[in-house]
Amino acid sequence: MRLDKFISDNSALSRSQVRDAVKKGLVKVDGIIIKQADFKISPETSSVEYAGNIISYRKNRYILLNKPAGFVCSTNDPESHTVLELVPPELSKKVFPAGRLDKDSEGLVLLTDDGELSHRILTPEKHVPKFYIVKLAECFKIQYIDLFASGISLSNGEVCMPAKVFPVENNDLWAIVELREGKYHQVKRMFASVGNKVEYLFRFCMGNLKIPEKLAIGDCMELMHKDVEKLIQTPDYDCILRKLYVYFSSYLINK
Ligand code: URA
Repeated sequence: MRLDKFISDNSALSRSQVRDAVKKGLVKVDGIIIKQADFKISPETSSVEYAGNIISYRKNRYILLNKPAGFVCSTNDPESHTVLELVPPELSKKVFPAGRLDKDSEGLVLLTDDGELSHRILTPEKHVPKFYIVKLAECFKIQYIDLFASGISLSNGEVCMPAKVFPVENNDLWAIVELREGKYHQVKRMFASVGNKVEYLFRFCMGNLKIPEKLAIGDCMELMHKDVEKLIQTPDYDCILRKLYVYFSSYLINK
């Protein structure tokens, strides 16, 4: 790989900034100053330094964002703030949201430049579960459990895959939903089909990857490889529910 490409792919610098830095002698490969931007390096084994800092190689980037309301899950929108504005520039290059949350929804959004993983977690055939906690306008009804399990028909005739829903303990305005697909406004439309309304929606988990308690709404973090793998692992329900209740009673209860 070319040296300038390696540095710009793995840092916040543009190709032209990299070329300037290389000319100025600010870049070393394996301890030696290199002044040719097209110098060939081996991304996995060469040690590349810019201004004294090692630039580490990442084949793909994965960012977990705790999305606040008011931002759209898009890379570019002339009318709204996008989730990319919440990601520091050194992490945001080439990433896109893998799956959407509505502008007024909050919680887990994965941003990545890995198209293959994105497809894998979004395609309904792979059944990666997504967990939501919602605040309803009307009290939860026990009939919702069977209605969601047998596949809700939406107002346009589309039929949803079987889904799980249950009320939050001691609080019947809140419910937890588990879906294995992602139709447009799906959770809101499912509750509309049973005569209720979602007033607030928070996505807590995808696969076995949960929002860490320390990640405040609006903050993001880069995921390590072992965390990315959790996206395709079978969820540990006990752990997810335990953490969800902690998160609910510390952050969401006053929504
Ligand atoms: N379902 C919805 O209705 N909205 C979201 O943001 C996510 C799932």
